[in-house]
Amino acid sequence: MPAQPGAEKGQERDSRGNRLESWKEIAGYLNRHVTTIRRWEKHEGLPVHRHRHAKLGSIYAYARELDAWFEGRREEGNDPRPATTGGGETSERLPPPPLLAAGAHEAIHLTGREEEINVLRSSWERTVRGQQQITVVTGEPGVGKTRLAVEFARSISRHATVLVGRCDREALVAYAPWVAILQWIIRTTPAEALRRHLAGVEAASELAQLVPELTSRIHIGDPPGSATPDGRRYRLFEAASQLLAAASRNAPILLVIDDLHWADRGSLLLLRHIIRSTREAAIYVLITHRNDVPEWSSEFRDLVESLRREHTPTRIALHRLSDDDVRHMIEEWIGRDSPLSLTELVARHTEGNPLFIVEMLKHLDETGALPLRQEWHGPLTLADIGLPEGIRQLIGRRLERLDPTTRRLLTMAAVMGREFKLSVIEALVDLGEDVVLDAMDEALTAGIVTEEADAPGNFSFTHALIREALYTSITAARRVRLHHRIASALEQQSSSLESRIPELAYHFGQAAVYRSADKAVDYATRAGDRAVTTLAFENAAHWYAVALRAMNFVASNTDASAKRFELHVKRGRGFFAVGQWASAKSDFEAAASLLDPAEQEKRAELLVRLAETAFWLMDVPAIRTFAGEAQVLADRIRRDDLWADAQAWMASAMVSDGDVLAAIRMDHEALARAGGIRSFGLARIPLTLYWAGQADEAIHHGFQAVETARASEDPSFLLYALQHLGLSLSGAGRFDEALRVFDEARAFGRRCGALPLLARATSMSVAPLLSLGNLKGAMARAFEARELAHRVAFEPPLVSAGIDLLIIFARQQDPGRAETLLDETAQAVQKATGWHAWKWNMRLSQARAELALARNAWDEAVQAATCVIDQSRSRHRPKYEALGLVTRARAARRLGARSAVKDARAAVEAGRRLADPAVLLDCLIVLLEIQGTDALLEEARRTAQRIVRTVSDETLRSAFLTSVGNKASRVLATS
Ligand SMILES: Nc1ncnc2c1ncn2[C@@H]1O[C@H](COP(=O)(O)OP(=O)(O)OP(=O)(O)O)[C@@H](O)[C@H]1O
Ligand SMILES: [Mg+2]
Repeated sequence: MPAQPGAEKGQERDSRGNRLESWKEIAGYLNRHVTTIRRWEKHEGLPVHRHRHAKLGSIYAYARELDAWFEGRREEGNDPRPATTGGGETSERLPPPPLLAAGAHEAIHLTGREEEINVLRSSWERTVRGQQQITVVTGEPGVGKTRLAVEFARSISRHATVLVGRCDREALVAYAPWVAILQWIIRTTPAEALRRHLAGVEAASELAQLVPELTSRIHIGDPPGSATPDGRRYRLFEAASQLLAAASRNAPILLVIDDLHWADRGSLLLLRHIIRSTREAAIYVLITHRNDVPEWSSEFRDLVESLRREHTPTRIALHRLSDDDVRHMIEEWIGRDSPLSLTELVARHTEGNPLFIVEMLKHLDETGALPLRQEWHGPLTLADIGLPEGIRQLIGRRLERLDPTTRRLLTMAAVMGREFKLSVIEALVDLGEDVVLDAMDEALTAGIVTEEADAPGNFSFTHALIREALYTSITAARRVRLHHRIASALEQQSSSLESRIPELAYHFGQAAVYRSADKAVDYATRAGDRAVTTLAFENAAHWYAVALRAMNFVASNTDASAKRFELHVKRGRGFFAVGQWASAKSDFEAAASLLDPAEQEKRAELLVRLAETAFWLMDVPAIRTFAGEAQVLADRIRRDDLWADAQAWMASAMVSDGDVLAAIRMDHEALARAGGIRSFGLARIPLTLYWAGQADEAIHHGFQAVETARASEDPSFLLYALQHLGLSLSGAGRFDEALRVFDEARAFGRRCGALPLLARATSMSVAPLLSLGNLKGAMARAFEARELAHRVAFEPPLVSAGIDLLIIFARQQDPGRAETLLDETAQAVQKATGWHAWKWNMRLSQARAELALARNAWDEAVQAATCVIDQSRSRHRPKYEALGLVTRARAARRLGARSAVKDARAAVEAGRRLADPAVLLDCLIVLLEIQGTDALLEEARRTAQRIVRTVSDETLRSAFLTSVGNKASRVLATS
């Protein structure tokens, strides 16, 4: 209760108690100064109402509401500053962020959302019990997504840590929503607790890239070793996830991400990472986004898709309000029953969109077109009250009614962005302080802008549509000039330009066509570089693009061309780091075209990069061109490392064309010059050796590649090296180890979100399962690989896993199931001429042969198997020679052909030359079927036992034994 409630004044009474009619009366009632009261009203939600119909600024309050507020404030400890540390920290929530306080006094109570609030509540209860929850709120603009999220957040903010990140259409800072969230945690967590949270976080220093003030709050150790950009980004993501998880142990967390459709790609990836790695934490992720399609980027679609698939979030599709709700809103606004004609008019015209309703009521009030608070009779039409058709026009009308000075200032503000600072506006205009303040007051009262609770002078538009209406109300020419003036004012005003670089880059960038293009180039380059240091590669690419566009307005000379080169290389690297290879390639090519012929070293480096990019784009002729030229240059300037890398890419082209042995010779030369596997490019070598059946050497280099990759801390390098090691181990019958390596690769790939490589690892991991006869497990894996590959449109694992599935269907004696897949895969293989076509064709022939066998089409099986045998011999792929012979022997036997024995014997010979016991066992079994000897049976038993010994997993082992038992039970009988 307030200390000394004021005396009864005999004023009007209602259910909310005494009515107080002025600031002074409220101050008297609460026994505080008027300034304190106004501050409370502004920043802490003291319930004060405004008369809508009377002159601006007249207010009233109800004593009972004030009492309740005062009580609540006391319970809350009334302290928006950091919570203090103490013993039992289990329920120490952080103070609510400013956004919650800012919207505390909306004109109209939340109407008609009881059901939605209940859904949110029950998810929250599950969160409190320690289960991560996700809810996605969607709906059209203005339907009330933000409002719902904020109201819910406010309702639980006493017992929860609420964190809010908002995405903007023109986000200048990379990871903008996350910067806000992490900053709030870092700023408001007591130092002691923060230290504890970060104690176990390996790469806490990466967080300081996003929130520099971290280092001033607590001491942060050095980063653990060097890492490539991708690796560092991974560590940053891990650190952010761990910090959130640690904070959630003090109090459950509600994490609101508003307007996700505008998030930059980095923010989306970080969100996905956090969701994946905090599944066991008391964190409730509440996402809002618009459902109108033009706003959606492809990255955003991917994220929504993967959320749906992997986490099945609760979904709330916000519908428009019912006529009844519309009536409630009107009544709350006008303070009495709504005449039917008014309800009908508003409901029909707005179709229940809350933003539209609120704007319409404001419009009616402001124009006085309708005596809202008096009686009237008869039906109403739009024409009667001069209402425009759409929400945008309505907003336009409201803006037109503002004082011209206010409108002018707001237009400037709109050019600044959704959020703006008064000080910058003041610097732009030659108006007295009072004039500017009055204008802002008018805008505040009209509900066009709000002021940030903790930072007077920082404003934002109440709705994106309002800002848009202002921004588009002036000509492009004027906008460009305004951007320039804003940029210049910012530049002059800022004591530390460093923190304003993205803003400067944005405004100078918009104005480059008009003036100061050189500044645009400079700031945008710096903004890009900063984004790289915060590991926001997509954002960096954006800024480099801004700089490149501005270059069009800079005089061309040598410096300009050097600058262009630099920008293209930088942007190319950004794209490459995040797997956007086609974009990376065009940037590297553009850079190369700008180089002076004398700059050989730069050119050689660029060419190696281009070869690597061409590899990922599966463009064999391009690999050859780039790598070939790179080698000539590398030799000339004596850069062995570059030469070796180029040689490895050359070899990869050779493999792709099917000359495996030549590729291995080239690989050996590369290894000799580089002194071992020292780069990503060289890490392909074990794979080629595996194909050629040289398992031991493949394993040796495989381990070395993994070791180098681990030290490099580059996730894609590690993922790439692990999958080749897994295959090599599998090819040598070390199935247990192979499966473990694949498990690591897949878990790692999932965590760092490297989908193309994850799809590849998953597809390769089918091999050991298939060898062990675990058809069910292999099938699940192959489907998973295809699904992942589909998602990123990455062809190789799609085709490869498709062929595996065909073989699995055949071995399950279910050839009918293969029909459509066979057509689809055959077409894909056909299309892929030039990229490993020989290998895919050979494997596809094997699948066809096995399917024919399953259909009892013996002639067809013989034909297809003959294809496999011929190809594998000419390409040196001994495993498929053995498999082809096994299949042909079986088919020939059914045809009663004598060649069956010959084929089966040849198969055993081929099998014995291989390191893979699973293939050998198949060969032995087929010969046993035709012409068994005791010695042969003994060899088959020994081989089976050898396999059993390498499999420690009980289920896998028994699946293997069953599959052998089905084929040849004799092999399992003890001798
Ligand atoms: N259920 C409601 N009851 C009362 N007012 C509401 C309700 N829902 C929304 N509003 C009001 O309508 C306006 C628009 O709502 P809000 O900003 O939440 O929409 P949104 O769906 O987030 O729009 P956008 O897609 O543009 O972000 C706000 O002034 C808000 O206070
Ligand atoms: Mg919103």
